[in-house]
Amino acid sequence: MTGVTAAPVPDHLADSSYLRACRREPGDRVPVWFQRQAGRSLPEYHEIRGTGSILTAIAQPDLATEITLQPVRRYGVDAAILYSDIVVPVHAIGFGIDIKPGVGPVADQPFRSASDLERLRPLEPEVDTPYVLETVRNLVAELDVPLIGFAGAPFTVASYLIEGGPSRNYTHTKALMRSDPTLWDDLMGRLADIAIASLRSQVDAGASAVQVFDSWAGALHPADYQHFVMPYTTRVFDAVADLGVPRAHFGVTTGELLESIAQTGPEVIGVDWRTPLDVARRRVGRPVTLQGNLDPAICLAPIPAVEDEVRAILALNGGHPGHVFNLGHGVLPETDPGVLAHVVDLVHAEGRADGPSGDDT
Ligand code: CP3
Repeated sequence: MTGVTAAPVPDHLADSSYLRACRREPGDRVPVWFQRQAGRSLPEYHEIRGTGSILTAIAQPDLATEITLQPVRRYGVDAAILYSDIVVPVHAIGFGIDIKPGVGPVADQPFRSASDLERLRPLEPEVDTPYVLETVRNLVAELDVPLIGFAGAPFTVASYLIEGGPSRNYTHTKALMRSDPTLWDDLMGRLADIAIASLRSQVDAGASAVQVFDSWAGALHPADYQHFVMPYTTRVFDAVADLGVPRAHFGVTTGELLESIAQTGPEVIGVDWRTPLDVARRRVGRPVTLQGNLDPAICLAPIPAVEDEVRAILALNGGHPGHVFNLGHGVLPETDPGVLAHVVDLVHAEGRADGPSGDDT
């Protein structure tokens, strides 16, 4: 962990709709951004992305900067998210992992025993991922909306390392956590420290918020989440609390975990489309900002159906100032960018962020 203190957020960003919503302050509109807003649904992305591993594209700051900016220009979203990936740090320290197009992260030699810990030394962001920090600095100089930095949560990154690739059942991961709790603790502790170092360096370089992706935590029974995952996610959030930027959590199928996730400490909690926002609001059990939760598949439906769903989500939120509109998961590659632009316009035109927060009740 570095001892750096982040530069204060510039005034024009501190008052942005996204950061106001993260602080649950009333505003004149509901902010909106989309997970995976940069990427394969944009023709301008295909034009400049080139072929080869996405990890090669991420290592080129000028390219990564431009790709991050593309959706901000096109959609007028209220936040940018860094073009990078959750496996960038473990790749950079030499674990041996790549990202295969259409598949996801793949490791030829999965993590299976204590000797594999040797491939997980601590991350030194300025040395191991200088290109990420250069991209962040480039972006902060260009953007007039906040930049969200991110890291993979220990569990979701562990699942790729242990399974060796995307997984349906997480059999090796679940077996390891139960068969060797000591090794699990060492692995999760190292991944927590890697996430902490990465997040701190991004904020130090100018990111205005951080999001921790525990995309696959929803595969766990709540008791297993609490026992095997929560302590490490909590450690990550605790270790970046002093930076003073909003901390967001995201996961899929986390309806049964929302109360536990809230206890890990984030100010913002992503909700997928399977849980209605009003239900999520009750489940989290403490004042937080909810982020979500349009089903990305709806964006492939006719416009009137998309409008109905957007309005239904805004209605369920009821004008609560702690709402950041988003999809329940990432933009699907076949999405028409025109539909996303329409969603942004509709949320801006009709979303209300001036209602009671109900936080004191
Ligand atoms: O949201 C954004 O646009 C920011 C950039 C971003 C990427 N990956 C770029 C990317 C972010 C935030 C991620 C995080 C990430 N990576 C997560 C957590 C978010 C989630 O989706 O739940 C996960 C699970 C990964 C692992 C990963 N990387 C997967 C499953 C894939 C898809 C593989 C495929 O090709 O379908 C990737 C590759 C990836 N990461 C792409 C992008 C734009 C697509 C590949 C490409 O364009 O070359």
